[in-house]
Amino acid sequence: MGYLAIARKWRPSRFEDLVGQAHVVQTLKNAIRLDRVAHAYLFSGARGVGKTSVARIFAKALRCPNAKDAIPCNQCPECLSIADSRSVDVMEIDGASNNGVEAVRSIRENVAYGPSSGTYKIYIIDEVHMLSLSAFNALLKTLEEPPSHVIFIFATTEAQKLPLTILSRCQRFEFRRLTHSQIVDRIKFILADENVLVTEEGLRTLASHSDGSLRDGLSLLDQVLSYFGDRPLSGVPIEEAQIVEALGVNQTSQITTFLGCLLQKDSKGALALINDSYLAGIDLKHFAERCLEELRLLYMMTVARINAEEVSAETLDVSNSHYTALKELAGSTQLIVLERMAQIFSKVLGQLGWSSLPRFGLEMAAVRICHLQDLAKVEQALMGKANAGSGEKPPESVAIARNPTPVERKMESRETAMAPPPAALRVAASPSESQPERAPSPTPADRETDEANWTTSVPSVDSRPIASAPSAATQAWRAFVEAVMKRRPLLGALLCHANFKIENGERGGKNVLLAFPEGSFYERQARDSKQQIEDQLKQFFGPQTVFALSPASANTTTSIEQTKQEEAAGLKKTALEHPTVVKMKEILGAEVVDVNADV
Ligand SMILES: Nc1ncnc2c1ncn2[C@@H]1O[C@H](COP(=O)(O)OP(=O)(O)OP(=O)(O)O)[C@@H](O)[C@H]1O
Ligand SMILES: [Mg+2]
Ligand SMILES: [Zn+2]
Repeated sequence: MGYLAIARKWRPSRFEDLVGQAHVVQTLKNAIRLDRVAHAYLFSGARGVGKTSVARIFAKALRCPNAKDAIPCNQCPECLSIADSRSVDVMEIDGASNNGVEAVRSIRENVAYGPSSGTYKIYIIDEVHMLSLSAFNALLKTLEEPPSHVIFIFATTEAQKLPLTILSRCQRFEFRRLTHSQIVDRIKFILADENVLVTEEGLRTLASHSDGSLRDGLSLLDQVLSYFGDRPLSGVPIEEAQIVEALGVNQTSQITTFLGCLLQKDSKGALALINDSYLAGIDLKHFAERCLEELRLLYMMTVARINAEEVSAETLDVSNSHYTALKELAGSTQLIVLERMAQIFSKVLGQLGWSSLPRFGLEMAAVRICHLQDLAKVEQALMGKANAGSGEKPPESVAIARNPTPVERKMESRETAMAPPPAALRVAASPSESQPERAPSPTPADRETDEANWTTSVPSVDSRPIASAPSAATQAWRAFVEAVMKRRPLLGALLCHANFKIENGERGGKNVLLAFPEGSFYERQARDSKQQIEDQLKQFFGPQTVFALSPASANTTTSIEQTKQEEAAGLKKTALEHPTVVKMKEILGAEVVDVNADV
């Protein structure tokens, strides 16, 4: 018999041999024991994590005449034919190459006939997401009411592409990616039998290039063993450096060192490492990907440090030496810096695919990161000075200044609170961060105790402080509009354009005056919807509420929509005139490209 790839040779043949996926195994075993086998299963999850293997074990457990407690004998003709995919009662169909209606039709015709022996006839359809829509439709009927001897097992890496009609007719199992430790343990187990030694670091490197797929891990192992020919059998363990050489990848410690150089602003060291990798023939896109992965680990470590928490090597799924190196780096790292590095690497990664000079792209990124940290310091120094001088709040976000967002600032300055995941850092400041734009609905009691008459005036844009608290009337109005928005979005949107005046009326009621621009579309809409507006007002402010529409010239407060626009204009103006921004422009010779007032 010819050479069999390690991944195939070591395909698990019993549920007990599977790595991970315990939730799937337990449910399937119970189904067999309790005789509650469903007629359609969907196995979804990443590639190479055991879907096909489980489908075959399940088929064997159901069909092996010697099976006991869901354990097939793996020796009878039935077990052997299933393992070799040649059983006439366990059909393995590749959805990618049999994706048309005709293929499904022949299945439909076939299911009518019982199995040649045993109780069940099993159809395993791999890559089921590749079936055409008409093929899925053709399958629906059979799936709804299959003959009692038929079991379908669908496997896919892209369950989201399946129609809901199919999903809802299947019992679904999500197969998980395997951790580095699980992959390392399985490879160790296999190597013991193959009589090959590999150091722990070497195994970790293999696992870290497997992307959670055991098949990938075993294929890489095959590649390494082929590279060394007979040498591994000499009893000397294969070292990480040799594995790295065989696979043409970076040593993990090299990536950690590279990030260390960037954090220490050692552009020379960083450039030398890029050069070494390039000369060693390493794919630079892969290099950048590894940097991002490493940044993620560093980020987790730094968050843990800031929160004075411990995160273990096990949680991070890294070796002990890698963990120690990461811990050292994380000791003095700032989250802002890591996040910016990640942004730069992500950008570079996107460009590396099509760049004609990928090395240069990566080099520029490295140098940029080294200088970036200087910028962060200048920024901080300026910020300190400016704030000390003016006591003002820094502007929300200015494109040139690379100011940390309020969320970032909070995290760095407090250095305590549980940091949100990186994605959260990218979220712009929420309205509640800077201005209480949407006040919570006042309770009836609040409304009762409010001051006498709420008089309002239109504040001038220039004199009005940006983050000034809205008056009680404005707050109540906003809460009202928000409530309407939830129930009647169209009416709510119309009310956003209303100038308003709210006064205390008789018997605890409110007098509400609304005005829309004269002759406008909104005014006509409001006249048509007068009754609905009144109903909503009474519901919110109480039945005594008196409501009137008036000409726009009436003494009313600016509409929510208009206020928003004015506030944005004011915010932009404040940002542009802010001492920090002015200083930054002066020192760095920078131009303000844009002010994001969308808060
Ligand atoms: N959970 C696991 N336990 C043990 N071995 C596994 C596991 N997952 C994968 N393997 C190994 O990888 C090989 C491929 O696994 P399998 O065919 O079951 O993956 P799959 O999930 O069907 O992948 P694909 O989506 O690419 O079809 C197996 O022969 C086995 O050697
Ligand atoms: Mg498969
Ligand atoms: Zn058997």
